[in-house]
Amino acid sequence: MTDRKISIVGIGKLGMPMTACFASKGYDVIGVDVNPEIVRKVNEGISPVFEPHLDDLFRNYRGRIKATVSFEEAISNSSQTFLIVPTPSEGEGGFSLKYVLSACEKIGKALAAKKDFHLLVLTSTVLPGATAGEVVPCLEKHSGKKCGADFGLCYNPEFIALGSVIRDILNPDFVLIGESDPRSGDTLEAFYRTICENNAPITRMNWVNAEITKIAVNTFVTTKISYANMIAEICERLPNADAEVVTRALGMDTRIGKKYLKGALGYGGPCFPRDNIAFSFMSGKLGVKAAIAEATDAINRRQLKRLEEKVLSELPSKGIVGVMGLAYKPGTNVIERSQGFELVQNLVSKSVPLVLYDPFAMENVRGVLGGQVMFATSARDCARRVSVLVVTIPCEEFKEIVPEDLKRSGAEPLLIDCWRLFDPAKFKDVCRYVAMGTGK
Ligand SMILES: NC(=O)c1ccc[n+]([C@@H]2O[C@H](COP(=O)([O-])OP(=O)(O)OC[C@H]3O[C@@H](n4cnc5c(N)ncnc54)[C@H](O)[C@@H]3O)[C@@H](O)[C@H]2O)c1
Repeated sequence: MTDRKISIVGIGKLGMPMTACFASKGYDVIGVDVNPEIVRKVNEGISPVFEPHLDDLFRNYRGRIKATVSFEEAISNSSQTFLIVPTPSEGEGGFSLKYVLSACEKIGKALAAKKDFHLLVLTSTVLPGATAGEVVPCLEKHSGKKCGADFGLCYNPEFIALGSVIRDILNPDFVLIGESDPRSGDTLEAFYRTICENNAPITRMNWVNAEITKIAVNTFVTTKISYANMIAEICERLPNADAEVVTRALGMDTRIGKKYLKGALGYGGPCFPRDNIAFSFMSGKLGVKAAIAEATDAINRRQLKRLEEKVLSELPSKGIVGVMGLAYKPGTNVIERSQGFELVQNLVSKSVPLVLYDPFAMENVRGVLGGQVMFATSARDCARRVSVLVVTIPCEEFKEIVPEDLKRSGAEPLLIDCWRLFDPAKFKDVCRYVAMGTGK
């Protein structure tokens, strides 16, 4: 039986959904953040981050959640602490541990004052070697205690995707635990048995194997994406070829599988793009050339260029480009490394007039680009106002566009459908329709 009191350090895009999920399973959760504004919001019942279904879960279990800026308060009132602070990329490609170590210093000091055994769970993404090499020495120095004996430390990264974080936390494919000692691993495993709703397998190992597994999962998934995009590029150059048909068949082979195998645009967001770079940086330091990770990254980088060239080559003079899809994927407002948003930025730098639409991310884009672009009120409004319309994410809402929205009295508009969302037959009379990944 695990203790019912948990603390979470870092109440961000991952930490806040974890807080709400753990509370929904009957735990009292204390969130700690260095940002007092975030702490204030949580204590007032306002989620500091956007994520589908999070508000409802937070509202329903608010009574079990509180937030503080005090590490001591959180550690002394819990038996298990999850550490989920940022690990931003550094110039050479590695992940910075500055926030992790700054938090560990404070956690270590709080542990020094605590008599009972405490389990610390590192959930931030770190590179292989970081837990043993830097995290443990920092904790031991500031606590004066021995890891594995006086306190436990597990490396337990999450495999969530923004937009489906709640579902992913409660129904993971598997739970990965790198442990300092069997007692700590047992405690965390027992905890996850009370959290997961799908009886997910729990795999336990040492820290370094868990660290390698985490980064290997992400680089493998992105390899599948870039592979499908490579197929799509080839299809575009062969008459009658269709990446949709090819990848669907390819995915039927169970050795390959259909997930993430759909030629479209490249991957984006806060994790995938940086993980291949970090993997290659880490392997390079070990004298191993990570050629697959490098090729995956190179293919990904050229997807946006390919799209931009297409847009610019087709744009009539004084034409307006519409971009639908500014977040890096549907169901999130995150624009970091989003292909749609990067396309917008590149077109803005070339003074191309733009009308933009996204169900969730327009406020974030407005914050960066302000009056340099125009915003539509809906997908249909966006379609009605432009001469080239680019669809960058497979968002269900975009399917509300009807041929009427693209009907013009003058020159036919162009619809570039990166995800092949629309039925070409429906639109062929009102616009030129380009499905990326298909040959003419
Ligand atoms: N967001 C994702 O999709 C995702 C997926 C898998 C893994 N991760 C990993 O999870 C970690 C956190 O990512 P995120 O997206 O939740 O970050 P985030 O920036 O959304 O949130 C981090 C929070 O930590 C707080 N913080 C920073 N330094 C702190 C400190 N020293 N003490 C206490 N709080 C501190 C910040 O104020 C912020 O609220 C990263 O290592 C990331 O790689 C994120």
